[in-house]
Parts: sequence; C-alpha cells; structure tokens
Amino acid sequence: MPLKIVRNDITEMHVEAIVNAANSSLLGGGGVDGCIHRAAGPQLLAECRTLGGCETGDAKITRGYRLPCKYVIHTVGPVWQGGGKNEKTLLENCYKNSLKLAKKYNCKSVAFPLISSGVYRYPKEEALKVAADTIGDFLLRNDMTVYIVIFDKEAYKISEKLFSDISECIDDKYADRHNDFLK
Ligand code: AR6
Repeated sequence: MPLKIVRNDITEMHVEAIVNAANSSLLGGGGVDGCIHRAAGPQLLAECRTLGGCETGDAKITRGYRLPCKYVIHTVGPVWQGGGKNEKTLLENCYKNSLKLAKKYNCKSVAFPLISSGVYRYPKEEALKVAADTIGDFLLRNDMTVYIVIFDKEAYKISEKLFSDISECIDDKYADRHNDFLK
C-alpha cells in the first residue's frame, strides 16, 4: 500500500526524504522543525541559510546530515486564519510541491508530518484530509511509498477515526514529552 499512516517521531523514519513544516525563513523554529534541526545537526541550518527562504506553499530540498534520511524537503504551510484566506489551496500546494521535488530527486519513499496543524493552527481533521487526498491523488500517477506521520494525541485520535490501519511506533507519553508546542 503506497500511502501509510504511522504514529512516530518523523526524525526516526527510515525513508529517503522527510518533509519539514518550516517557516518562510527556513532558519528553524519549534515543533517538528525544531526536532528535525536538533536531530540533523548544525550543518542543516548552514545549508538552509543558502536557500534564501521559501514562499508559503512552496518547497526546497537539502541533505539530511545526521538524520537517517538522505534528504529533508522544507515546505511552508499556511497559517490558519479561519479558512477564507486560501489556506486549503496553499496546504495542497505544500504536498504537491514537496512530492514533485521528491520525484525529481528519485526518492521512492517520503514521510510527511501533518503540515500546519501545530503552531499554524490548521484544524487537524481538515489538515489530515487535505494530506490524504493530495497524496492519494499523486499516487494514482506515481510509484512511491508515502507516509503521513502522526505525532500528538489529538491527531492520533482523529486519524484512528478516519483510517483503520495505523501502526504506532510511539505513544502519548513520548509525544507529550517531545512536543515543543505543548511546552
Ligand atoms: N514528528 C512528527 N510530527 C511532529 C513532531 C515530530 N517530531 N513534532 C511535532 N509534530 P508544527 P506548523 C507534529 O507546529 O503548524 C515551527 O516553529 C505536531 O504535533 O511543527 O506547520 C516552524 O518553524 C503537529 O501535528 O508545524 C513554523 O514557524 C505537526 O507536527 C511553524 O512551527 C505540525 O506542527 C510551523 O507550524
């Protein structure tokens, strides 16, 4: 099955590329961005400094450094402002542009976090639907294994409601301890 839902820390994923939910500076932050930079080490930030930032909905690629993945694809999700500011299209663009880059770099496996669903406040259920629909559409025409990586308790409960088959590699305690957003 080319689309898989897993509960894990994305920095532990053994795939060719992981996607980072970054901000437009690409110079690091909290949430999954903070976890990825901590795990990759300072060379990731050094490479990010050369990229000149990134527009919302767009994506840029770097190496993975100390991470188990070869590449990190950095994308910038929209900040949720109630739904009337083109947020859905911008979020779809994050997935589409990240997958396009993954394909260009010949990645056969890619893992996404639930972009925009933390600090940027996109409702988690809607964010998960956008992720699954956009990735699903791409996989109709492309051969790749794509993971949606669920992290926090709320997202996990929603994903259980929407999808029957989720493998759990972490639990609530791990997620609470490592979620910058909750601290
Ligand atoms: N692995 C997988 N998912 C994670 C992890 C992890 N290690 N840590 C958190 N999540 P967020 P955003 C989940 O806030 O909403 C940063 O400061 C988390 O539970 O990381 O796109 C950036 O620099 C949530 O479901 O990203 C930007 O300024 C999801 O990842 C801003 O936050 C996304 O939450 C981007 O906000």
